[in-house]
Amino acid sequence: MNELENVPVHVSIIMDGNGRWARERGLERAAGHIEGVESVRACTEAAVEYGVRYLSLYAFSEENWGRPQEEVNALMALMFKSMMAELSNFLENGIRFVVLGHRERLGDELNALIDDCMEKTAGNTTLTLVIFLSYSGKWDILQAAKKYAREILEHPEKADGLLSIDEEAFGRYLVTDGIPDPDMIIRTSGEMRLSNYLLWQSAYSEFLFSDVLWPDFRKEEFRSALLAYSKRDRRYGKVK
Ligand code: IPE
Ligand code: IPE
Ligand code: MG
Repeated sequence: MNELENVPVHVSIIMDGNGRWARERGLERAAGHIEGVESVRACTEAAVEYGVRYLSLYAFSEENWGRPQEEVNALMALMFKSMMAELSNFLENGIRFVVLGHRERLGDELNALIDDCMEKTAGNTTLTLVIFLSYSGKWDILQAAKKYAREILEHPEKADGLLSIDEEAFGRYLVTDGIPDPDMIIRTSGEMRLSNYLLWQSAYSEFLFSDVLWPDFRKEEFRSALLAYSKRDRRYGKVK
C-alpha cells in the first residue's frame, strides 16, 4: 500500500466547495454538505491506510455562524447525525475522535454527544481525527493569551517564570495542545486563503491547493496530495 517514502504525520484539510458542488447540480447547499460527509469518510479511511497519524478537518469556522440560520441549523444537525452514525466505526478502527473550537457556542445536546464520542474513543491510537468546529485561528490565539494572563493574575508569585515563556510553552495554551502542527494543509475548491484557520500552527506547514470541490475529494485525491507532499523539500529556513 505504501508507495510513499515520506508520509506526513498530520494532514489538515480546509473542506471547501460544498455549496458550489450543490449549485452545479441544481441542488440546495445542504445537499453539498451531506455529500461532503462521504468525503470525510473516504479521507479518514485513506489516512488510516497510509499511516497518517493525525487528520484534522476544518468543518465550521467562527465566521460561519454568520451564514443564514437555516444553513447553520442544517450543518449542526448534520454534525450531530454524522457523529451518531460514525461512533461505531471509530471504535472498530481505532480512531480517536477529538473536537476543538469554541465549544460554548455549540448547543448542549451536540456538546454532550461530542463529550461522549471523545471519552469513548480516548484510548484509540491508530488515527486521531480532529474536527475543528466553531474554530478560528485568531480566536484560538486570543483564548490562549487570556488563559495565560489569568494564570499570571491568579499566581503573581509565578509571574517571573511565566514571563519567560517560549514558543513551545505558549503553544500549550492553544486548543491544539498535544497535537503536532500540521505537516500539510490542503484546501479544496480552488480558493487560496487560510480563512482564519490554524494561524499559529501553520507556521511551517506545506500548503496544497486543489481545484476539486470537497464532495468530490475522495481517496484518489487524498493519495495524490500525499504523493505531492512526499516530493516537497522542507528546509525550515536552513540551507540543505
Ligand atoms: C465548505 O463548503 C463547508 C463549510 C464552510 C461549512 P462551503 O459551504 O463553503 O461551499 P462553497 O464555498 O460555498 O462552495
Ligand atoms: C472556510 O471556508 C471554513 C471552512 C471550510 C469550515 P469558507 O467557505 O467559510 O471560507 P471563505 O468564506 O471562502 O473564506
Ligand atoms: Mg466556502
